[in-house]
Amino acid sequence: MASELAKSQLSVTIVDNIEHLKGTHAGYRRAHARGVCYDATFTPTGDAGPLTTAAHLRGEPVSATVRFSHTDTNPHVPDGDRAVRGFATKFHLPDGTNTDLIMVNLDRFVASTPESFLELLHAAEPDPATGAPNLDNIKAHVGAHPEAGPGLAAAAVVGIPVSYAATTYWAIHAFFWRDADGAARPVKYRWEPDLDPANAEDTSGWSAEHLAEELAERLKSGPVGFRLIVQLGEEGDNTDDSTQVWPAERTEIVAGHLSITGEAADQEYWHNQVFDPTLLTPGIEASDDPVLAARSTIYAVSYDRRVHKR
Ligand code: HEM
Repeated sequence: MASELAKSQLSVTIVDNIEHLKGTHAGYRRAHARGVCYDATFTPTGDAGPLTTAAHLRGEPVSATVRFSHTDTNPHVPDGDRAVRGFATKFHLPDGTNTDLIMVNLDRFVASTPESFLELLHAAEPDPATGAPNLDNIKAHVGAHPEAGPGLAAAAVVGIPVSYAATTYWAIHAFFWRDADGAARPVKYRWEPDLDPANAEDTSGWSAEHLAEELAERLKSGPVGFRLIVQLGEEGDNTDDSTQVWPAERTEIVAGHLSITGEAADQEYWHNQVFDPTLLTPGIEASDDPVLAARSTIYAVSYDRRVHKR
């Protein structure tokens, strides 16, 4: 109970510090503020069936709702800026429940614990003289937390995709799949686009919401798709540090295909929903990654503030 309380307090402190650093935009998510939701259908290949009892990964196709987003807290930041993009999926399961899978177009995170993420927010405080982050403070943070270096370096050069449908997304954390015999194995997910991944060379002609407009136009000629690729972890692969990736030679399976068909009819409804990476279903379990555990309460704090129009 005491540790649950400490976790909630840390989550409140993190959201307070995001607001302090980036400002508050009443009614919007405290990260990934601008996004558009889409209707989709997920069709499992059957290859995951022997490895997990999760209904959507072994049975019939299920409907899903997808949200593509810009990572910023400010919903008006233009799409032409270099930034991480989000891809959240809510699978609507045959028994009427949902399970969420949340990804970004980066393969690793910038902190291995919520505490070190909070320290990173402090290090990113703007210098009062220049109004920009003080690079020496960021370097000092990476000196104290070398595991943050690769994720920060990757985020600094992340490409600007020509389309939400033309980039790869990773869920970053490990999860556990449990099979019908009760055996568990660690897995990591990514969405690979059916389109060839491509980054924009010049975004000067882009409107602020170019990526949503581009996808609306593209969907007029038919669905866009992604394959759900699942990396199977092996003995010794870490499951508790989202700054680390597993070796590329790990066995992978294609668990299914997502077909995105058009914009969801009720954007206001979906704006007010939450996609929670710990909303799982029997056959899928959270790993021991402390960032994954913290996200649930952090998102609940953000949700509570935005639905109250703060
Ligand atoms: C300590 C670490 C993190 C913090 C403090 C954080 C913070 C947040 C917050 C406050 C929101 C808005 C929640 C809401 O109001 O519904 C959010 C959304 C989101 N986060 Fe994180 N996050 C963290 C880690 C991650 C990681 C590791 C990923 C990588 C998959 C990620 C991907 C996303 C995405 C894609 C969304 C948008 C979800 C949607 O469309 O509703 N976050 N995050």
